[in-house]
Amino acid sequence: MRISRLADQMSGSEIIRIGNAVSEQIRQGETICNLTIGDFDPKLFPIPAELRDGVIAAYQAGQTNYPPAAGIADMRQAAADFLKNRLGLSYSPNDEFLVAGGSRPLIYAAYLALVDPGDRVVFPVPSWNNNHYCHLSGAESVMVPTQPENDFMPTAAELAPQLKGATLLALCSPLNPTGTVFSKKDLEEICDLVLAENQRRGPDEKPLYILYDQIYWLLTFGETQHYDPVSLRPALRDYVVYIDGISKCFAATGVRVGYAFGPKVVLDKMKALLGHIGAWAPKAEQVATAKLLPQQTAVDNYLTGLKTGLQASLNAAYDGLKDLRAQGYPVDAIVPAGAIYLTAKIDALGRTTATGEVLATTKEITSYLLTEAGLAVVPFSAFGTAATDPWFRLSVGAESLASIQAALPRLKAALDKLT
Ligand SMILES: Cc1ncc(COP(=O)(O)O)c(C=O)c1O
Repeated sequence: MRISRLADQMSGSEIIRIGNAVSEQIRQGETICNLTIGDFDPKLFPIPAELRDGVIAAYQAGQTNYPPAAGIADMRQAAADFLKNRLGLSYSPNDEFLVAGGSRPLIYAAYLALVDPGDRVVFPVPSWNNNHYCHLSGAESVMVPTQPENDFMPTAAELAPQLKGATLLALCSPLNPTGTVFSKKDLEEICDLVLAENQRRGPDEKPLYILYDQIYWLLTFGETQHYDPVSLRPALRDYVVYIDGISKCFAATGVRVGYAFGPKVVLDKMKALLGHIGAWAPKAEQVATAKLLPQQTAVDNYLTGLKTGLQASLNAAYDGLKDLRAQGYPVDAIVPAGAIYLTAKIDALGRTTATGEVLATTKEITSYLLTEAGLAVVPFSAFGTAATDPWFRLSVGAESLASIQAALPRLKAALDKLT
């Protein structure tokens, strides 16, 4: 073999494959409502003006050399204050915070710092990218299917049989791909399982850690509240690594500032690993983010605007699907609670197209919707569920409300053509 086994066995992203098909159709002049990528159109959802101006000013001020390995002190302080003020989480900016070029390097570093090859990593499915991080770290992935009636969030009962001897439990709320969140009770019960498992382990055994990805936590809608493990169960503090950052909640996916916080012993090693990879956030972006986060009114106003826009789009898609359902179409949706995603059911499995093809998998439904309805969505099978689970992720950050509204009658017409 000319390349490593690790490289050879890496699986490509299904989302990117669908994205390429979408680009090709757009190139051919077709109108597509593209709800595939978990990103924002900057024309619809720009970053906060304070962040944009801060980045420009930082470059003009010559902030162009290496940042410190853990992130600049002001950035760590600002993130620590932000989390203390808004979530009541108390972590030291000096040695319990790590800044990186977005949250992905931090997730990868957490895996490498905690997981040995062959260790078991438990994660609920659908889930975003944990399969890839398991592959990169040589972990055995233990995927736990979740249920639509629980909004596709895992329950303690579902996870309990898998935690014995596991090294990492990877959780996310608000969840990509579903746009749903943990209830307080469900997360408390899961936290209690982890505490019990760690009490059972001997002093020389590696504990069970939680990787808690809360990258979407500021994007919750209406009365929905965000919960996190250490606030609910302070005794978990030594076992939880939090993943956070500005990518999603400030529509700043291209700005690349993420941060992790958690126990010093783990964060130190993550810092050392990322130091070798060099995945620091650009210094000017850190300077600007450190200036943005303390501006409470500006942040609150920005978030209100962002959430209003996202929710209008999510509600339009939700209402449209519920309306079609009321008319007898085989579709459904789960109330959007957070993030930028809607969970939609489009159960055209077993139906036959006008050209005589039977839609046997959600991938085939996806292709059909793209060509017949000009509607691009991602099946949950891209996030680890079965190819015949008729659920899809609709991501609304990169399309206008008008485009989403216009796609709904096209969906109806495409479903009408099936027999
Ligand atoms: C749950 C979750 N975590 C982390 C990330 C990565 O974010 P970043 O752009 O900061 O690397 C994403 C991006 O899609 C995500 O959905």
